Amino acid sequence: MKKRILVLAAVLVGASCAVGPNAARDVSATERNIKIMPHDEHSHARPDEVRVDHLDLDWTVDFDAQRLEGTATWTLTRRDPTAPLRLDVKSLDIEEVEAGQGEVFRAAPHEIVPGDPVLGDTLQVELSPGDDRVRIRYATTEAGTGLQWLEPSQTRGGKLPFLFSQSQAIHARTWIPCQDTPGVRVTYSAVVRTPKSLRAVMSASQTRELEPTADHRVFAFEMPYRIPSYLIALAVGDLEFRSLGPRSGVYAEPEVVEAAAAEFRDTESMIDAIEGLYGPYRWGRYDLLVLPPSFPFGGMENPCLTFATPTILSGDRSLVSLVAHELAHSWSGNLVTNATWRDFWLNEGFTVYLEQRAMEKVYGVERKKMEVMLGMQELREEMAELPPKDQILHVDLKGRDPDEGFTGVPYEKGAAFLRLLEQTFGRDRFDGFLEAWFNEHAFTSVTTEDFVAFLEQRLLQADPEAAKAVDVHAWIEEPGLPADAPDARSDAFARIDALVADWKAGRSSMDSWPVAGWVTHEWLHFIRILGEAEKPETLAEIDQRFHLTESGNSEILAAWLELCVHSRYEKAWPALRGFLLRQGRRKFLKPLYEAMAKDPALRPMALDIYREARPGYHAISRDSMDKILDWK
Ligand code: BES
Ligand code: ZN
Repeated sequence: MKKRILVLAAVLVGASCAVGPNAARDVSATERNIKIMPHDEHSHARPDEVRVDHLDLDWTVDFDAQRLEGTATWTLTRRDPTAPLRLDVKSLDIEEVEAGQGEVFRAAPHEIVPGDPVLGDTLQVELSPGDDRVRIRYATTEAGTGLQWLEPSQTRGGKLPFLFSQSQAIHARTWIPCQDTPGVRVTYSAVVRTPKSLRAVMSASQTRELEPTADHRVFAFEMPYRIPSYLIALAVGDLEFRSLGPRSGVYAEPEVVEAAAAEFRDTESMIDAIEGLYGPYRWGRYDLLVLPPSFPFGGMENPCLTFATPTILSGDRSLVSLVAHELAHSWSGNLVTNATWRDFWLNEGFTVYLEQRAMEKVYGVERKKMEVMLGMQELREEMAELPPKDQILHVDLKGRDPDEGFTGVPYEKGAAFLRLLEQTFGRDRFDGFLEAWFNEHAFTSVTTEDFVAFLEQRLLQADPEAAKAVDVHAWIEEPGLPADAPDARSDAFARIDALVADWKAGRSSMDSWPVAGWVTHEWLHFIRILGEAEKPETLAEIDQRFHLTESGNSEILAAWLELCVHSRYEKAWPALRGFLLRQGRRKFLKPLYEAMAKDPALRPMALDIYREARPGYHAISRDSMDKILDWK
């Protein structure tokens, strides 16, 4: 009740929404979530002994010191009354630890138990009988990988600094002491003090701006639905908001907010499309945040507020499948969450499948087919290079950094498996099955075994004849791509295949190609089928005709530059350097640095570019490139 009054008294800023009827639904989900989760290799937490339920955050954002400081207060459920609370912590300055009941706290005995370089340490807090809360006063440090602090020069506006978080997979522990496992779900509230010129946004369903203090603007956030730690997110910057529809909008720096609103104008239709297939969108609002170009991913499905790279602002909405993807995570991933990182395909494979269904509904079946084909082609190429253990959907990540274990396999092989089930059991029946999967597991975390059991009961046993055709075990537990993997056939791509074949055989000239009508996907297909190493003269001929080195579309440019490196097409070097310096999306950086690193003639150039670019890259991208380039 108290919260409600606060809400009404507060000044509403940007997008905000009230706690809807879904909150009631979450209570029953909370009960269900009491099921004991399997052990998570990537967390020191012991939720089977003491589990965190709710988090209250109180932070001051200090750009001068590049530090977040304040308190994290956990509300607990104690299952073993003698056990301590164990939280994951990494690169944090722990200043004070208290325990207590309600609002009464006293100093609590605690210890930081050293862990390992990937997982970090354990903050172990001794609890007294009756204690149900723990308050930790702490600050982040420079070594933390979950926050990137940007200088004004790294932003579009160039005048003000920027901060953003990236918690997935196991970086939340570097900015919040927490049970950093996707098997534990919590609600949270936060108060964030920012410099006067900046705004804070979070992955919360409600944002309010409170009365400013002498030095700070003060924002308050409320997340009433239980989410795993990897979905807690914060960004602070010079942000403006544009509405996209009744429940969607976009935040971006003032210089890009108009372009972003134009690019994302179909967002509301995408929400409607997925709702029509799999049931209601349960998070209230769906907003996007366009980050500065060092954001290491294409997108991140932070609930209520997708984080997105500016490299998808192509001007022609050709890269918005990324929005469909992050939005789809509101069902697959955020509502029904992988319980451990080895179940990651339940997040990403399902999401790619939903994304493709949404794209078909909003943009038509031809676009969907092209996207399926591009994905499958990429998967086949990547799979050929992967060790068998990494070709398995239910991958074993024991002893590995989950960030390094992720490949296209959980995404594309996972989606192919669901397309096979759709094809085998029929679209209507499969849609009903998926809707039931989401509804019956809403706001819980699930394992691969949970899914296999549900699949058996609800789909396979209902149609034993059809079920005989599907080798579930091979798909989920074995390497390789089963022969029954459904691909797609795009007539547009087939036409390009024919043109290229004729041209390579000297039967036709590129001058006659109808490229004026080509969409981004067709260009990508064209570049991909050219093959790894064309002669530089061939690339020069293509470039002369189509000017791909000057492409303003990041996907086309990235694919083209990769080919240029493989073919040592030197005229592209300035564009290559420029591209690697102006954005830090790992998916674009990795193949380019890899290709240069492998070629002794180009390795020095790679190191030279990297020396200049590295300080601007996010720690996640930096870690991957350091390995590729053997950087000391
Ligand atoms: N959740 C992922 C991003 C992620 C995965 C971050 C694993 C950290 C660890 C997100 O939904 C995603 O898959 N993004 C893709 C784009 C998508 C269209 C395939 C990306 O960033 O490239
Ligand atoms: Zn995803």
